[in-house]
Amino acid sequence: MNRHRQIYEGKAKILYATDDPDVLLAYFKDDATAFNAQKRGTIVGKGEINCQIAAHLFREIEAQGIATHYIDCPAADEMRVKAVQIMPIEVVVRNIAAGSLCQQTGIALGTILPQPLVEFFYKNDALGDPLLTRDRLLLMELATSAQLDILHAKAIQINHILQNFFKQCAITLVDFKIEFGVDKHQQILLADEISPDSCRLWLTGEPDPDLRVLDKDRFRRDLGNVEDAYRAVLARVLGVRE
Ligand code: TMP
Repeated sequence: MNRHRQIYEGKAKILYATDDPDVLLAYFKDDATAFNAQKRGTIVGKGEINCQIAAHLFREIEAQGIATHYIDCPAADEMRVKAVQIMPIEVVVRNIAAGSLCQQTGIALGTILPQPLVEFFYKNDALGDPLLTRDRLLLMELATSAQLDILHAKAIQINHILQNFFKQCAITLVDFKIEFGVDKHQQILLADEISPDSCRLWLTGEPDPDLRVLDKDRFRRDLGNVEDAYRAVLARVLGVRE
């Protein structure tokens, strides 16, 4: 795949232009960061693993009627995507309490939530990606009220699809972060990636709170075997249909 001008470099991916102005090429890096890039490292093979996991999940979501930016993968660590303007909002969906929800509310780790919780964070590293209220989102004109309703509805649908999918892999979907973009037709597409970098995934039925972790928390919390956990997720994801 011909790579042209680099358009953007994020913490986990580089975006390149292609011959077609409506198509970009995303290259998935092995670089890992946490805590707003205060912690940095490399997870060997992560680029390929996350690209393949994300591709599979995007196909699954697309098949169930939600538009995504995914086109195809010309190489194991490369994804062709539709060009979109990324909305600077990180949409988090939670099924089980973990991470910042526990830190900010005192709800115990592992508490099953009565219904999925959808939260909007401001995608802004300089400000530390703060949690926003709906009124703040509108005040800052990050999205219209109608767009927020669409994001919320899509997030709930995507959660439903992913929960069912991971259940078949004997993986429990604790929470995840997604991003959306707007294409040239003003259509909102699911964008960025869905991978162990952006989800909390627990081995179903594993009671040990460290052994069950199959996601980037292994890197964040120095639990070891990060690469093995990512590979285990890929193997389970590919083992289902495909
Ligand atoms: P949190 O509990 O730290 O708010 O994270 C919620 C989910 O969002 C979790 O699955 C990890 C994911 N996430 C990202 O993908 N990027 C981030 O920068 C952060 C803070 C969380």
